[in-house]
Amino acid sequence: MPAGENLDYRLLLDAAAAAARATGDQGHVADYIPALATVDPDAFGMAVATVDGELYGVGDWEQPFSVQSVSKLFTLALALAHGGDTLWRGVGREPSGNPFNSLVQLESEHGIPRNPFINAGALVVTDRLQTMTGDAAGAVREFLRRESGNPLLDTDPVVAASEAEHGHRNAALAHFIASHGNLENPVETVLDHYYAHCAVSASCRDLVLAGAFLARYGVRTDGTRLMSRSEAKRVNAVLLTCGTYDAAGEFAFRVGLPGKSGVGGGVLAILPGRAAVCAWGPRLDQAGNSVAAVTALDALTTLSGCSIF
Ligand code: DON
Repeated sequence: MPAGENLDYRLLLDAAAAAARATGDQGHVADYIPALATVDPDAFGMAVATVDGELYGVGDWEQPFSVQSVSKLFTLALALAHGGDTLWRGVGREPSGNPFNSLVQLESEHGIPRNPFINAGALVVTDRLQTMTGDAAGAVREFLRRESGNPLLDTDPVVAASEAEHGHRNAALAHFIASHGNLENPVETVLDHYYAHCAVSASCRDLVLAGAFLARYGVRTDGTRLMSRSEAKRVNAVLLTCGTYDAAGEFAFRVGLPGKSGVGGGVLAILPGRAAVCAWGPRLDQAGNSVAAVTALDALTTLSGCSIF
């Protein structure tokens, strides 16, 4: 990426928002978790937090939405920060090439999920974080509150309950993983904490501030180090290869940044050494990634010429 060059983030955000709006009504709001289907499908927001402490936003960038799988970036980071490399014994780091909630690989691969971002892998990471902290979802919320400076950030209990009620696939995954001895905590505990961190409501503003530690190569907002530079590189690498599921290749092709999506319509991406960027639009493509958010990030990196490639 062009080093040392100042980007006009205001101009870039306006252009990215225009590109996102041009996607119109493409895609579908997630409704397999019924509480998610109540969102305004036309909402759109985008924010940037630079490593120098600047913050920019456009549209609905301060409106909270359900972070869903974007939370998996934070569970992974916290599990690595607390426990280091031991995590990788129970979860892989290869793209799955399958949908995020797929069960098929888990049987042939003996209960070791392909990566930390598919649901199966995130259940294992949540389990390990639960062992390390005694309160996996609480650890994620606390981290998000601290980094974003938003003490009101919280789990939406209606969304969490809706997920639990319709969570047959996740329950199946968790039980299958447990049958292979790859969970340390009871299935119900793991599922509760998994739903609770997925159901956190946060805005683009909150998420760029919370994700900026990866742009700072592992350094938190207060200047302390969450993880080593090498670990931050690894998290970014897994985000690039696995963060958008079976569309990770397409996301790298279009956007060229490490990023994590969620079925709430958010995508948090990292420009290492520069900034965290989050875009949100509830309509999703087939892979469960936001059509508007991916388009906006594509526009931002294409117009600025600034990606990891
Ligand atoms: O477990 C689920 O299905 C949701 N809590 C999270 C899935 C998700 O966000 C996938 N991302 N695009």
